[in-house]
Amino acid sequence: GAVRHYKFDVGYIIRKPDCIQHVVMGINGQFPGPTIKAEVGDTLDIALTNKLPEEGTVIHWHGIRQYGTPWADGTAAISQCAINPGETFHYRFTVDRPGTYFYHGHLGMQRSAGLYGSLIVDLPKGQKEPFHYDGEFNILLSDWWHASTRDQEVGLSSKPFKWINEPQSLLINGRGQYNCSLAASVINTTLPQCKLRGGEECAPYILHVDPNKTYRIRLASSTSLASLNFAIANHKLVVVEADGNYVQPFAVDDIDIYSGESYSVLLTTDQTPNKNYWISVGVRGRKPGTPQGLTILNYKTISASVFPTSPPPITPQWDDYNRSKSFTYKILAAMGNPQPPKYYDRRVQLLNTQNLVDGFTKWSINNVSLSLPTTPYLGSIKFKLNGTFDQKSPPESFSSDYDILNPPKNPNSNIGNGVYMFQMNQVVDVILQNANVLSGKNSEIHPWHLHGHDFWVLGYGEGKFQPSDEAKFNLKNPPLRNTAVIFPYSWTALRFKADNPGVWAFHCHIEPHLHMGMGVVFAEAVQNVRGIPKEALACGRTMKVFMNNNKHN
Ligand code: C2O
Ligand code: CU
Repeated sequence: GAVRHYKFDVGYIIRKPDCIQHVVMGINGQFPGPTIKAEVGDTLDIALTNKLPEEGTVIHWHGIRQYGTPWADGTAAISQCAINPGETFHYRFTVDRPGTYFYHGHLGMQRSAGLYGSLIVDLPKGQKEPFHYDGEFNILLSDWWHASTRDQEVGLSSKPFKWINEPQSLLINGRGQYNCSLAASVINTTLPQCKLRGGEECAPYILHVDPNKTYRIRLASSTSLASLNFAIANHKLVVVEADGNYVQPFAVDDIDIYSGESYSVLLTTDQTPNKNYWISVGVRGRKPGTPQGLTILNYKTISASVFPTSPPPITPQWDDYNRSKSFTYKILAAMGNPQPPKYYDRRVQLLNTQNLVDGFTKWSINNVSLSLPTTPYLGSIKFKLNGTFDQKSPPESFSSDYDILNPPKNPNSNIGNGVYMFQMNQVVDVILQNANVLSGKNSEIHPWHLHGHDFWVLGYGEGKFQPSDEAKFNLKNPPLRNTAVIFPYSWTALRFKADNPGVWAFHCHIEPHLHMGMGVVFAEAVQNVRGIPKEALACGRTMKVFMNNNKHN
């Protein structure tokens, strides 16, 4: 493969993502950041320079497994030190699998601030995908707030707690329209008609298509909070890829996409060609306080400025979880995908709860709310620097009499930063168990994302996971994913093989939730990691290791 060089300057820029002027975290003056396009087998060499005035930064390559390069995973305090203002860090890693991915900031809430972009890996020239298409579009979805990320962060870590609330706008490739609707003339809304000519920063990203062709739409969600539903009026979508893995194709009218997920869907332009059609994005899983994001599917036989005559698709009811489940359960591995090992070596059951720590609102996993240490785990573990994080392994499970259907009896939990340590090639089952929130009768959706791996999603179930549920696991064609949701009051079972030496984050991809401690850390055979570049670990207690002994590495 080729080596592809990129130069990424991360800095603040003034933009109008939803027509309202705002400070945005951009790359090379762009928002969203540049799209990276590579082929399987290529090496990406991205020189990231931090041009932010006063904060560190890192970028995570979401969905790229980083075999042999765990220091390039881009997780601050886990795989590397934050890159200081003025400094440059080289992310060098190979992309070994085709698919739809994205990248984003992984320090504090820099993703919410706008630090993201698309990463597409194509098959090598001459090789064919297992489905046909004539053209492709790439869509990165996100949500947008008018409060600054700084204000949001302070609110989340304050007493009393101040929630960020629902986003002001949904963005399609970084473009949305605040306080107006593109479809005001055809829907029942109090919003005025947007007056856009098309050249504005916030003008919609239009999909121009020829009739009677098939297009691959690559969709990824980098939302901070929102679970989304994507639909194109009058058109079916055939799902063919999820998180870089081929799935058994199935046709739907709309698709749910959670933060951290990516899909490819095939669109056949078989409708009346002298018309345009709405493409809609709406919120699911939380009571929406955000208007639909809209854009247009333009049949090139007519002008893109002709408004669609039929209304935009209606986003399914936000709390129709049965509908969400029926979509999610349809996702199965395509024939020929690797099957999971038949047995697990170790099972970790992770109870997700909302808690209080000293009166601060947090999320906890088995009663531990994650707070990252100052020295990155990768260096601490590799160089055996005890004392940089909790040496005691976090709990493998939770009390079997915990009542998941009600607020916690004892709301208090603890801050921690212990690590689940796995031996090379151990087969690990993770049961994610959802529960009721801190007060009131509610349970939220959490999309969990694992770094460094894909996992097989063996099953989903209602209520509390029971040992007998194991008999219902799908070991035949479970989908491989890097992100999977737990539905309210439900569990999700995952299996993966600890075959990638390194330290990997596993967390809820809702950024404020992670910020409130909703994550755990997995370390795998770290003694096998070789060749950590010293620029990755020039901070905290690992800095000394490199100063004292360059050969240590
Ligand atoms: Cu896309 Cu750790 O996240
Ligand atoms: Cu969450």
